[in-house]
Amino acid sequence: MKKIYTLICVLAFTLVACEKEQKPTNELETKVSDLLSKMTLDEKIGQLNLRGTSSRVKGKLPDSLKQAVRDGKIGAFLNVTNTEYVDELQRIAVEESPNKIPLIFARDVIHGYKTIFPIPLGMAASWDTQVAKNSSRVAAVEASSFGIRWTFAPMLDIARDSRWGRIAESPGEDPFLASTLTKAYVEGFQGDSLNDPTSMIACAKHFIGYGAAIGGRDYNTAIISDAQLHNIYLPPFKSAVQAGSQTFMTSFNEMNGIPASGDRRMLTEVLREDFGFDGFVVSDWDSVKEMIPHGYAEDLKHAAELSLNAGLNMEMTSKAFEKHTKELLKEGRITEDQINSLVADILRVKLRMGLFEKPYRVDKSDNLYADAHLQMAKEAAIKSSVLLKNDNNVLPLTAGKKIAVIGPLADKPREQLGTWTFDGDGKYTKTPINAFQNNNVNYNFVEGLSYSRDKSTKDFSKAIAAAKQSDVIVFIGGEEAILSGEAHSRANINLPGAQEELIKELAKTGKPIVLVIMAGRPITVTNILDDVDAILMTWHPGTMGGPAIHDMIFGIAEPSGRLPVTWPKVAGQLPLFYNHKNTGRPVIPEEFVQMDSIPIGAWQSSLGNTSHYLDIGYLPQYPFGYGLSYTTFAYSNQTLSSNTISENNDITVKVTVKNTGAREGNEIVQLYVQDVVGRITRPVRELKGYQKVTIKPNEEKELTFTLSLEDLKYYDNNEEYGVEKGDFKVWIGQNAAAGLTTKFRYE
Ligand code: GLC
Repeated sequence: MKKIYTLICVLAFTLVACEKEQKPTNELETKVSDLLSKMTLDEKIGQLNLRGTSSRVKGKLPDSLKQAVRDGKIGAFLNVTNTEYVDELQRIAVEESPNKIPLIFARDVIHGYKTIFPIPLGMAASWDTQVAKNSSRVAAVEASSFGIRWTFAPMLDIARDSRWGRIAESPGEDPFLASTLTKAYVEGFQGDSLNDPTSMIACAKHFIGYGAAIGGRDYNTAIISDAQLHNIYLPPFKSAVQAGSQTFMTSFNEMNGIPASGDRRMLTEVLREDFGFDGFVVSDWDSVKEMIPHGYAEDLKHAAELSLNAGLNMEMTSKAFEKHTKELLKEGRITEDQINSLVADILRVKLRMGLFEKPYRVDKSDNLYADAHLQMAKEAAIKSSVLLKNDNNVLPLTAGKKIAVIGPLADKPREQLGTWTFDGDGKYTKTPINAFQNNNVNYNFVEGLSYSRDKSTKDFSKAIAAAKQSDVIVFIGGEEAILSGEAHSRANINLPGAQEELIKELAKTGKPIVLVIMAGRPITVTNILDDVDAILMTWHPGTMGGPAIHDMIFGIAEPSGRLPVTWPKVAGQLPLFYNHKNTGRPVIPEEFVQMDSIPIGAWQSSLGNTSHYLDIGYLPQYPFGYGLSYTTFAYSNQTLSSNTISENNDITVKVTVKNTGAREGNEIVQLYVQDVVGRITRPVRELKGYQKVTIKPNEEKELTFTLSLEDLKYYDNNEEYGVEKGDFKVWIGQNAAAGLTTKFRYE
């Protein structure tokens, strides 16, 4: 970084020197400069201030708040959902403030505003850019009617630990999949033009390393090597810049000793100078002030100095900038040029949004929950759902079967929406029970447990009785929405409450059990795996989860999701991810030692010395990319166009995929590569491409992937980017543990 930075300093100095003699070249920068030149220091500081309110504010807006807007002391608002407040505050800003600078109104519109889509981890399971784009476009159309033109999404934190509550919001564990979806999210939120009234500027968050929290405990420390930073955690954020995301948000965590809001290397050198980002960066809630408990800032003034010098533009809710910027300027600890540059970024975005010409919201609130929106939400729920187990093809169910619907989440409108759904209205949610009713399903519904953490067995007998009267049990359980999301990490990720006990009691009836899981993370099912015949993971499926589940279990639609995260057997295996290193003692089945098979008094070094757990082994429950269909597929004829790759010689990889089952099916064909020897050790596999295909029974398709040398390059710990000559393996398969292998060399 140092070399790059030095070079950039020289270049930047040269440019600035030139610029001093020239007016900014393009019209936008001219407008920015003109506006800046008219602003007082108080107004400039005001633009750096994002004022949070609770969306629960009732009654009249406080006069003090209105006066602050009138004085130009606030640049943006968070959580103002009362449209009268939005209209009044914006009117004051554009008619009464010194330079009539419009406000931006922000909200966490993460996976829908009113029409709620599956949680982002679920949408990642769809591997579908159209699903991602639909969800964010619908969210923008619905939210912008309320004046919300800035969403704090997409969340792009790579997550490898299912204990972490915010894995629910994440794009999963893989940088390639996450980066692909990022582009779709940003384009969906921001629309075809930033100045379209239905455009919502995106906010790539949380920059950076939030998902690497030690122990999967939210807000915890992240220790990330430069190689991991560039190869795993940065790619989705780079994709966000390339897609034109107008804002970024810093994360709560420290990375390698530096809290994100004070990290100049990340906020200025990497994000702006390397990636070319020219929007603005907002801190996460109070994270500027939290540099004090982090032990990085002595006090609020020092926190302001660190953040401003790092290149943070806007402070969310804490008031370090408001209170201390003037002193810091007087003391020379920051410069007026720095403040001007930080303010210019904000003005640039507001100008791009067309807020000066059209500051007021365009109310299209008749589009809320529009049929088209609901249909896209249902499609997303189906494409996000992952069929994990289907013994004896118990699914799909044939119509007319008598079903005992049991479990705490079969009819919970709010719970199935998942985390971050302040504005989704439960009364519009279609639960599984709604869907069964509306489709005249022959079912009997006995909850058995009244909520996911319920430990009471008092209703077990009623549930068991219903089960005995049925042909098949559909158990709909998992986690209430509050058990994942911010600050909601779990050390044990089994089904909460007495759900496992109830499932075991139901299994004694001998009836087949279909387990439908609604949750914000993979749930360890080891204890009940043999008690159920099918497992359908729907994540928290959103407003249309019920109709989606109905259509999937009756085979009207096929769940076509594939895991975006590795699914552990027990939490003790975490963090667990497919693109791991081989180690010097990779485990092989022959050498894996089962704890119970160790002879009593065994000699200390008599066991297989490889990397595994004596009690649980070394395999996940289900690998990254895994998911079943209602049909089966066979892969054959994997061929390479050449056995060597070079700068000017891409390789094409072909494979034939045949639907060997009796019904049309959807498959996500995945391409993985291994760089066998590197200047630093390389993962055993890396996803480098995928294609979603639908194939009719007994038909086959030949698919072609292209690999270029660029696809194989990586960063080492000196931030050198490149690839050495040598051997590579390539797999095309159904998940990260499968596939036909072929080899090629970089000559
Ligand atoms: C929260 C979250 C962040 C969110 C912000 C505003 O603490 O960390 O993702 O956008 O505050 O609600």
